[in-house]
Amino acid sequence: MESADAFFSPLCPVSFDPLARHYRWMECVLAGKKLQHCRTLFLNRVNGAQHVLIVGEGNGRFLIECRRKLPAARTTIVDASARMLRAARERLAQRGLDPERVEFVHADALAWKPEEQAFDLIVTHFFLDCFTPEELKQVIANLARAAAPGAAWLLADFQMPADGLRRCRARVIHAMMYAFFRFVTRLPARRLTPPDGFLKELNFVLLERRTIEWGLLHTDLWMRDGGYPLSLAAETSARSRSCNVMSPRIFPLGSSSNTTINAVDSISMD
Ligand SMILES: C[S@@+](CC[C@H](N)C(=O)[O-])C[C@H]1O[C@@H](n2cnc3c(N)ncnc32)[C@H](O)[C@@H]1O
Repeated sequence: MESADAFFSPLCPVSFDPLARHYRWMECVLAGKKLQHCRTLFLNRVNGAQHVLIVGEGNGRFLIECRRKLPAARTTIVDASARMLRAARERLAQRGLDPERVEFVHADALAWKPEEQAFDLIVTHFFLDCFTPEELKQVIANLARAAAPGAAWLLADFQMPADGLRRCRARVIHAMMYAFFRFVTRLPARRLTPPDGFLKELNFVLLERRTIEWGLLHTDLWMRDGGYPLSLAAETSARSRSCNVMSPRIFPLGSSSNTTINAVDSISMD
């Protein structure tokens, strides 16, 4: 029998180990397909990526889709939870996907030293919300060092709508979420810090943002300015499925609008 302290290591004061076995069913019950929809929405756009860095990947749901869509890409997974990494590795094996080009790194993203400009795609899904403002600045600067000029950054996360009932609803959900994660994982963050300002300071440009679930969730495609950009596919998906969202297209159209978006062709329940 493992003691509670066995979950917490000097590597990182936060530990998602206690959640690793429960994360999948909890997500299914609380969010259905919505988080996976956010994780994978822009994956078709970055099909030129060859060196992928996924940080805070958790139990490997995005990794599976990433390996299916980018089988030739070298992929590095960094996570501070040994159990989450094990779950991701097992998920890959269960789906019969080649682990050959995948490297699993057990590390605290705040301290991990990535190879400079080594990656043309960085992915941080539902990860940046784990940090206090000071930590967030540090972790984004650290990961930005790993981004090649022209690299893309996929980022799905929670957000706080600007006003109205949506904001009230999101406030309640955020409060419950942070209380739960602070108790179970010792997360130091008390509230969400938007990463946009930190990314812009480091020359990342928001190419596209889709917002779903009454403004509670967003999924972004950012790209680092300069150099030869990762060639992006023009369409988010081949087939269109109706889905009511807010879609502020920051670039290149420059205005916000309610719109119907193209959803991913199929959202895997892996
Ligand atoms: C909320 S989970 C998100 C998991 C997954 N990316 C998803 O889309 O659901 C946060 C993940 O980030 C990892 N994590 C949290 N803080 C970390 C840190 N400082 N360094 C590396 N990984 C960390 C946790 O172990 C966990 O796997």
